[in-house]
Amino acid sequence: MSSNLRIDGARLVSRLTALSMIGATPEGGCRRLALTDEDKQGRDWLVGQMQALGLEVKIDAIGNIVGILKGQQEGPAVIMGSHIDTVGTGGRFDGALGVIAGVEVLAALRDAGLTPKRDMAVIAFTNEEGARFHPDMLGSYVWAGGMSVAAAHAETDSEGVGLGAELRRIGYEGQEAPGFLEAHAYLEMHIEQGPVLESEGGGLGAVTGIQGICWLELTLKGRPSHAGTTPMAYRKDPGLAAARINIFANELTKTIPGQLANSGVIRVQPGNVNVVPETVVMSLDLRNPLDAPLAEAEAALRKFCAELAERDGIAISFRDLARFPATPFTEELIASVEQSAAEFGLPIRRMISGAGHDAQMMSRLCPTAMVFIPSIGGLSHNPAEFSTDDDMVAGANVLLSAAWRAANA
Ligand code: GLV
Ligand code: MN
Ligand code: MN
Repeated sequence: MSSNLRIDGARLVSRLTALSMIGATPEGGCRRLALTDEDKQGRDWLVGQMQALGLEVKIDAIGNIVGILKGQQEGPAVIMGSHIDTVGTGGRFDGALGVIAGVEVLAALRDAGLTPKRDMAVIAFTNEEGARFHPDMLGSYVWAGGMSVAAAHAETDSEGVGLGAELRRIGYEGQEAPGFLEAHAYLEMHIEQGPVLESEGGGLGAVTGIQGICWLELTLKGRPSHAGTTPMAYRKDPGLAAARINIFANELTKTIPGQLANSGVIRVQPGNVNVVPETVVMSLDLRNPLDAPLAEAEAALRKFCAELAERDGIAISFRDLARFPATPFTEELIASVEQSAAEFGLPIRRMISGAGHDAQMMSRLCPTAMVFIPSIGGLSHNPAEFSTDDDMVAGANVLLSAAWRAANA
């Protein structure tokens, strides 16, 4: 690459700081749930930044925001991206950093007066987190053709509000067909969101792929009754069943290698101290680097639930919220990320991603890779999420170098 091509680190940090102020929480984090007013403000800010850079800005029918830098030739583009929505109690870096880094890559090329051979673009994908609408990575899933626009618009949040209606309300139902920009390669920079890089003494991560994800929603129906008068043996208690399921899922993680389990939503109705619950709606987030053990975990869980339902007189129904297989990235592009780190004298190690990312969907379309930077304390989906300025700039320089290489190869 052009040897003195560099990210403007101060400008990257100041752009991220500006975006962090939109939906900032008193704890120092961010709450920009997909398609809320805060998300709209973040989107408006981003579109403004892209336009000020002279990028061609397009919005597609699922609200993905695409900023394009025209290259010298027609044909597929080198795409960078991530998301600017957050979980309800999110940090400032998850997703936002990858979008800002992509913008800074294009800004660095503009500053240097360089025009790539291929088109280059940065995309902010809609609803990556899956915190408001399911599945997670919805915008990139639709972009990659895994879900129709109509099906995505029909998704509703926990209050029954429709995704399509929210897109229209905030003015981000665009004209373009998702996937309109053909992809030559996809590169995403992201915080690691776990403790590995920091505990290994710092340095960057060349991501080799993303583990499999299975999100289930379970609805448990029992019989509401008086908590003081109903003998224990007469109760049909879905609250107790939910607790048993949570423990069973946790036990699975001790016997199935690589298995993870979490129940982050447990809603109990009617929610009175002295009423045996009638209904529990709970989520399960199951993940594994390999698909076969993940399937084994899910099958064991479903069997356990069937037996529990029978024994305790509870009805248990399942709904899929998200289901994505383990996704390996492209060797050539992983090696290119490593080569870029080496050019900057930056240590880098190969690792798998525990979190889902838009890259998982983009890899259905084109060669894909990611670069990770350390998360201090391994914290993410937490207002205390933090990465250092130096690491952010290092990661963005690697993104710049690898993207430039792909755009000119
Ligand atoms: C996305 O943030 C995920 O849950 O992996
Ligand atoms: Mn993310
Ligand atoms: Mn996230």
